[in-house]
Amino acid sequence: MAPDGQMLATASAPNVYDSEPIPEAARAEIDRMLMSGDLFRYTAPADAPVALLESEFAALLGSHYALAVSSCSAALFLSLKALDLPRGAKVLIPAFTFAAVPSSVVHADCVPVLVEVGPNYRVDMADFARKLPDADAVMISHMRGHTSDMDAIMALCDAAGIPVIEDAAHSLGTVWGGRNIGTIGKVGCFSFQSYKLVNAGEGGIMVTDDPEIAARAIIMSGAYETNWKKHPGLSNSCAHWQNKLPLYNLRMQNLSAAVIRPQLPLVAERVEKGRAGHDRVAAVLNGSSYLVVPDPLGPEVRAPDSIQFNLKGDWTDQQALDFQAAAKRRGISVQVFGLSEGNARAFWNWQFLGEPPELPQTKEMLMRACDVRLPTRLTNAELDYIATAIVDAATEVRG
Ligand SMILES: Cc1ncc(COP(=O)(O)O)c(C=O)c1O
Repeated sequence: MAPDGQMLATASAPNVYDSEPIPEAARAEIDRMLMSGDLFRYTAPADAPVALLESEFAALLGSHYALAVSSCSAALFLSLKALDLPRGAKVLIPAFTFAAVPSSVVHADCVPVLVEVGPNYRVDMADFARKLPDADAVMISHMRGHTSDMDAIMALCDAAGIPVIEDAAHSLGTVWGGRNIGTIGKVGCFSFQSYKLVNAGEGGIMVTDDPEIAARAIIMSGAYETNWKKHPGLSNSCAHWQNKLPLYNLRMQNLSAAVIRPQLPLVAERVEKGRAGHDRVAAVLNGSSYLVVPDPLGPEVRAPDSIQFNLKGDWTDQQALDFQAAAKRRGISVQVFGLSEGNARAFWNWQFLGEPPELPQTKEMLMRACDVRLPTRLTNAELDYIATAIVDAATEVRG
């Protein structure tokens, strides 16, 4: 049985599982829709909540077009389809990402090619440059909001004429060299699943400046017959593609948009809070000789809602597991990506791809990289509790 002190500590551990609360303002709009039953995005002649969300999100990001869909995975899939890649096209993706990303590539009849990721969770540019000549497209997951070197990636891809999709599922509010993440490649995709900065339970959105990509994605998302007329500024392109592309029906419904819209004005504040909270915890972890939080790259201003850190020095797998258990006794759930059973971010668990490729660098990172949620609503006292619990757990195992 755990000593009393540990039981007490667990009792006061902050709850990091609950998502961001939904603003009160969403209620009136949801009530209105429940009364009218007007839940389908294409019923109203104009200004449906999904349409308003699209124009507000495009303005927030500074993009020409936005298309709201059922999930970020749907947005990634539609982005690939909208690029009109040939069947069997090779799509480079980082080997450190969520299983939904290679899944979207497979779903689009393309072949994912996994690129090594370094100990700082970012794409290894040497491996990227080696694999790029064989690729038809690139999908960069800014995994957990960690931005890979977008200047180097765009320079190589532009020179080779290869389109880049940004998987910015966790990156709403991240800025790279003064530009919003998700607006640097041809298409950017974001998630509104509950464990993201904006919480709608499920949902996704894609942004692009390319009218052909936008039009193709709109049609394939399920704008059947003349529903595409409710997407402003795209009439010529949509009219061209109508009936020439299959409908995958991945639309967002109005209730989701009503939950998301009042959260958009809160994004800037959540980003600031999330970054301050992350950096507060990171400073404590970096004070331990057993842990290290990798630095962001120079041009990157992060918007984190979780923290990742590496076990520093020579840890055995058993010690890493003991560390997870020691943190758990203090009420903090730490996942070592490669050591938690069936983790969907460990590439060797993506059995639908066949035999896992040899990716020694990414594997080494995953075996010692740790993940802890830090919702932006946490107070400083709660953040300090988490940081201290993690450092104490490491010291208990290695000290
Ligand atoms: C890196 C990354 N990309 C894409 C997704 C898919 O997002 P969604 O759940 O909205 O489909 C996730 C989900 O968490 C993710 O972590």
